[in-house]
Amino acid sequence: MPVDSADYRNAISRFLTGVTIVTTVADDKPSGLTATAIASVTLEPPTLLACLNRHSSTCQAIIQAGRFTVNVLANDQTDLAKLFASREADKFQRLAELGQGLEISAFGTPHLMGALTSIDCAVSATTDIGTHRIFFGEVHRVRCGEGSPLGYFRGAFVDR
Ligand SMILES: Cc1cc2nc3c(=O)[nH]c(=O)nc-3n(C[C@H](O)[C@H](O)[C@H](O)COP(=O)(O)O)c2cc1C
Repeated sequence: MPVDSADYRNAISRFLTGVTIVTTVADDKPSGLTATAIASVTLEPPTLLACLNRHSSTCQAIIQAGRFTVNVLANDQTDLAKLFASREADKFQRLAELGQGLEISAFGTPHLMGALTSIDCAVSATTDIGTHRIFFGEVHRVRCGEGSPLGYFRGAFVDR
């Protein structure tokens, strides 16, 4: 029998993760959400995975676009993580208010300035588990910056 989901949540919250914003563009409209369910899969070919709730608008946009970028947040980007964890329709318009820059990369996906890295991926495979879709992304481009990471542990952001 599987463990109760509340007990699992309580346990897995003790696994310290980084914090990312996964972005894409579909129908000329940018989408993005805060995600911690990201992992590197293999170096050959360079592949990561992103696990997204199928009810999120970003999941549907990635299905349409076939590509996405994982922006790994720095420790001064907690406001950005909170904004992209919301379901606000105008997340990208609000970036300027937060003093955050945005660039549409040559890959066609949004890069958040100040991120530690932005990793551009083409969807190479998918699988569904329960409520979520796992996107395997073949890495086509990377952009790297400097700084310290934002973390997430037991339901709280860790910024130092
Ligand atoms: C710290 C944190 C981590 C999250 N990680 C994920 C994740 O890995 N996958 C996911 O689908 N949603 C995750 N979420 C929830 C989404 O960010 C949230 O549902 C968002 O509102 C979806 O936005 P959208 O519908 O505009 O795409 C996370 C939220 C927080 C606060």
